[in-house]
Amino acid sequence: MNQKVSELTEKLADRHALSLAEYQALIDGYSPEAAEMLAGRADAVRRSIYGNAVFTRGLIEISNICRNDCYYCGIRRSNRLCSRYRLSEEQILECASQGHALGFRTFVLQGGEDPYYTDEVLCKIVSALRSSYPDCAITLSMGERSRESYRLLFEAGADRYLLRHETADKAHYQKLHPPEMSFDNRMKCLRALRDIGYQTGCGFMVGSPGQTSAELARDLKFIEEFRPDMCGIGPFIPHKDTPFHDMPAGTLYMTCYLLSIIRLIYPPVLLPATTALGTIHPQGRELGIRAGANVVMPNLSPVAVRGKYTLYDNKICTGEESAECRGCLENRMRSIGYELVTDRGDIKKEKR
Ligand code: SAM
Ligand code: FES
Repeated sequence: MNQKVSELTEKLADRHALSLAEYQALIDGYSPEAAEMLAGRADAVRRSIYGNAVFTRGLIEISNICRNDCYYCGIRRSNRLCSRYRLSEEQILECASQGHALGFRTFVLQGGEDPYYTDEVLCKIVSALRSSYPDCAITLSMGERSRESYRLLFEAGADRYLLRHETADKAHYQKLHPPEMSFDNRMKCLRALRDIGYQTGCGFMVGSPGQTSAELARDLKFIEEFRPDMCGIGPFIPHKDTPFHDMPAGTLYMTCYLLSIIRLIYPPVLLPATTALGTIHPQGRELGIRAGANVVMPNLSPVAVRGKYTLYDNKICTGEESAECRGCLENRMRSIGYELVTDRGDIKKEKR
C-alpha cells in the first residue's frame, strides 16, 4: 500500500473530511491492502457507535410503474418488456402486517414514480400504517415529488425518505438520465426533505456507465457536506432491456472500499449492504457489512410480484417468502459475528 493512502486514511479517520483531490487520490490508490486497512478502521468506528448490531428494514416494493426513463433502470417507462404491477393499499398493509409479526420495526415503501400515488392516495396509506404501527419507522422511497407533497406525507406519519442523488456531478447526471430530468431538482428535493424534518438518505451507484474517480470524489464530498442520515450505495448492474445493457457492472471491491470511506466520513451514518451487492457476489452483503455497512433490507413484497421489480438482471431474493428472506439474512449476519436487530434503528448522532 502506498504511503499516501495510509496518510489519507489517518487524516480521514481523524478529521472526517478530505479535499476533492485527496478523495480522488484515495480512490485511485485502491489496493487490497488499502481496502483491508480501511475496512478495519470503518468496522472499529461502527462498533464504537452501534456494537455488532445490524439493523433491518422491511422493503415493500409497491409499484414498478414509473414515469421516468433513467437509462440504467429496468423499470424505466420505455421498457415495454417489463410486466407492470402496483400493490393496493390492502396488499401494502398485509405486507406490513406480516413484517411486523416477523419483528420488523421499519418499513420502506419503494416504487417507481407512479402517478397513481397522488398525495391523497399515498397519505392515506402512510396514515393507515402510522396508526397501526405507532412504534415503527415509515420510510418512503418514491422519487421526486413537490415540497408540499413531502410535507403532507411527513404530516401523515412518514419519518424517513430515501432519494439517491445518483451522482453529485451534473455532467455525469445528464449522461445517466434523459434531458427532462434535472440534477438541480434532485438536489432541491434532498434539501427540502431535510428541511421538512425527514431523516434523509442519499446515495449513488458504484460503476455507473462512464463514472470516473473524479466523479466519485464529488459524491464523497457531497456526503461529507450533506451528512445524510442514510446513504444507499450499491454497484450498477446492467439490465438487458435498457440502453446500458452492455455496460460492465460495478465491482464488489470498489463498493466495499467506498462503504468504508463513507463510514469514516460520517461515522453514525446508516449504511445498507444492498441487494445489488448481494447480486454481484454470493457473499456481497456480508462483505459490505464487514467493510462498514450496518443495515440490511430483506424483501417483504408479495412473492408474486418480486420478479417484476427488476431494476437490473439476476436480482436475488425474488423467490423467497418474507420469513425466509429475514431468516436467511439473520443467519448470514450471525455467520460473520453480527446480530440482526429489530428495533427502529434510528441514527445515533450524539456519539460524535
Ligand atoms: N423511484 C425512486 C427513486 O428514483 O428514488 C425509487 C426507486 S429507484 C428504482 C431506486 C434506486 O435503484 C435508484 O436510486 C438507483 O440508484 C437504483 N438502480 C436503478 N437501476 C439500477 C441498476 N441497473 N443497477 C443498480 N442500481 C439501480
Ligand atoms: Fe432474501 Fe437471502 S436475503 S433470501
